[in-house]
Amino acid sequence: MAGIAIITGASGGIGSIFTDRISAMEDIDEIWAVGRNPGKMEALGSAYPKVVPVVTDLSDGKCEVLSSMLKSSAPDVRILINNAGVGFMEAFDKMPVEHILQVCNINCTVPAVIMSAVLPYMTEGSRVINISSASSFQPNPYLAMYSASKVFLKNLSRAVNKELKSRGITVTSVCPGWVDTGMLPKEVNGRKIRFAGMIKPERVVDKALKDSAKGRDMSVPGFFAKYFRIYSKVTPTRIVMDQWVAIIGKYV
Ligand SMILES: NC(=O)c1ccc[n+]([C@@H]2O[C@H](COP(=O)([O-])OP(=O)(O)OC[C@H]3O[C@@H](n4cnc5c(N)ncnc54)[C@H](OP(=O)(O)O)[C@@H]3O)[C@@H](O)[C@H]2O)c1
Repeated sequence: MAGIAIITGASGGIGSIFTDRISAMEDIDEIWAVGRNPGKMEALGSAYPKVVPVVTDLSDGKCEVLSSMLKSSAPDVRILINNAGVGFMEAFDKMPVEHILQVCNINCTVPAVIMSAVLPYMTEGSRVINISSASSFQPNPYLAMYSASKVFLKNLSRAVNKELKSRGITVTSVCPGWVDTGMLPKEVNGRKIRFAGMIKPERVVDKALKDSAKGRDMSVPGFFAKYFRIYSKVTPTRIVMDQWVAIIGKYV
């Protein structure tokens, strides 16, 4: 039976590549593409006939539009991609409360709420892909809220994956290093930023889809993120943080 896919943050970066790849899947006949920008969502709908644009801002953490769509159509959800995310590179003591709330709501509350709303409409073989980050491998000063939020999403995903084994549903946490998308600032305070080991979003998406199809609970694309995962496990956290501050401190 054909089913649907749901992708948040579908209009840009990693989300738009997921939309492209999933629209080619024969067992998916509709993609509910969630984004907040009406123009971008309309363009996505014109480019991909399977796309049903769901225009909504996820900042309040509620995703009510999606919940009511699920209730009214009771679809067979084959794939959920919790991809929308935000990050602010700034010192915590200068961070406005709105930024704190946005990171908590969009990176943590939204994926948890959507996963919970979608699970009743998933069956054996359905899969959830949650986009965490290599920032979840250690605390990142000046990206403190972001790295903390990605730890939340990684641990939530792996724990729920374990719980859902008996239902045959896989939850995969995707942890890329730097990815070449609009999320990364080209410069901060007039200084051009160099992102070590940056990879293309296509690489993240293709590996995530493969790993999730294999039932893996983690997907770590690219040499840099793989190396960093091991390095941060075997190196004292204070040293990893000092090295991070030495690299990133000059920009903030
Ligand atoms: N880029 C990296 O280096 C990197 C590394 C590791 C993990 N990630 C993660 O990958 C995911 C995708 O990021 P990306 O790099 O593809 O960045 P991106 O190009 O900025 O895409 C982020 C997407 O999230 C959407 N979004 C942001 N705030 C939203 C809101 N309030 N309501 C609805 N949608 C909202 C954006 O919509 P608009 O187009 O309307 O802004 C956009 O479609 C994020 O979870 C990010 O944390 C990124």
